[in-house]
Amino acid sequence: MIKLYTHLNEILTLAGAQLKDGRRLKAQDLSLIQDGAIVFDEAEIHWVGKTAELPEVYSKLPSLNLQEHVLTPEIVDSHSHIVFGGDRAQEYARRLNGVPYEQIAKEGGGILYTMKETNAARPDQLFQLAKERIERLHSLGVGTIEIKSGYGLNFHYEFELTQIIHRLKQHFAPKVQIFNTYLAAHDVPRDFESSAHYLDEVVLPLFDKVAGEGIIDAIDIFHEKNYFSTDDCQKLFSRAHALNIPIKIHADELNDNDGARLAVSFKALSADHLLKVSAAGIQALAESATVATLLPGTAFFLGKPLAPARQLLDAGAKVALASDFNPGSCHCDNLLLIASIAAPQLKLNQAELWAGITLNAAHALGLSQQGALIPGMKPRFALFKADSLAHITYHWGKNLAVKAE
Ligand code: NIG
Ligand code: FE
Repeated sequence: MIKLYTHLNEILTLAGAQLKDGRRLKAQDLSLIQDGAIVFDEAEIHWVGKTAELPEVYSKLPSLNLQEHVLTPEIVDSHSHIVFGGDRAQEYARRLNGVPYEQIAKEGGGILYTMKETNAARPDQLFQLAKERIERLHSLGVGTIEIKSGYGLNFHYEFELTQIIHRLKQHFAPKVQIFNTYLAAHDVPRDFESSAHYLDEVVLPLFDKVAGEGIIDAIDIFHEKNYFSTDDCQKLFSRAHALNIPIKIHADELNDNDGARLAVSFKALSADHLLKVSAAGIQALAESATVATLLPGTAFFLGKPLAPARQLLDAGAKVALASDFNPGSCHCDNLLLIASIAAPQLKLNQAELWAGITLNAAHALGLSQQGALIPGMKPRFALFKADSLAHITYHWGKNLAVKAE
């Protein structure tokens, strides 16, 4: 059914940002329309412009007057670990009291602790917990969510998590679009002598199975000292190419492991974290289509220096922001809040901020038909009760998102 919204205070179209492939953005690339109107059906946007300039053909459509509101492309959270059991509040308290994340992980805490809590829960409980988390994200203006497996860490439980994410995807479509990322290579369980052994015994065989069933959208790996090596990544990525499954990577977070260049050499959709990315890594990302995804909430929560966002942006990289919502390194689900706080710290302009959580975040999932409100693209947007676009992040921490109907 064709619909018409009129008299929006502002529409963030990001038409300029779309033309520039999300790179080297200036404030004018927001391409804001004041007193805007939009015509769309379930499949695509037909027209966007000023209400006063609505073409005659659309003027008889039943319309919704949305004065006092702002319309933006829907927020895309392109990196989350939403399916988990238990919590890590005690580890958080230990970190506040001076014990580093890496130390806690070495002692068997961290991801391996959440693995135990997750595997102790029933699949229906995990589904329910994740469903509630997704509903809350949606109430904050998020319409597309990438969800990684990664707390099962054996053949049986990783398969179960991937199936839960698939069920969530079916349950929420099309209201919330879920992207299913296979991250069995998240940590190495203690019963394997090496990461390579775990990769061969569990990660690769299960990868073949879930890819064969057509239930995953991408793979990911935690490329990090004491987790997975460059050799492990190359093996996994080669299999991904053979199976035609897109690649994402946790890269250069705690150490510079040349992860950004590795990602680019395998044409990954995105390289995520990048707190320690090298100058060569920045250059490689800038010259590629691989999105540099920054997770400032994690740096905040772990008390680490932020990623070199300005260097990435000035070099011409495509930069996205995501939540990394997980029980350990970033127990915050609110991407808009994270982006609002991070933008002044990372020195992002307003177009970089908004493209980072919409257009470029969609590109980090290989979704090229959303992220800008222009004719022909998907009608995936978020609505806020706000005087202007600036008011949305100016009210950091206050939820202004509302439902359209
Ligand atoms: O992105 N780095 C690996 N994965 C998560 C941490 C998950 C956890 O601590 O449970 C991250 O920060
Ligand atoms: Fe992560």
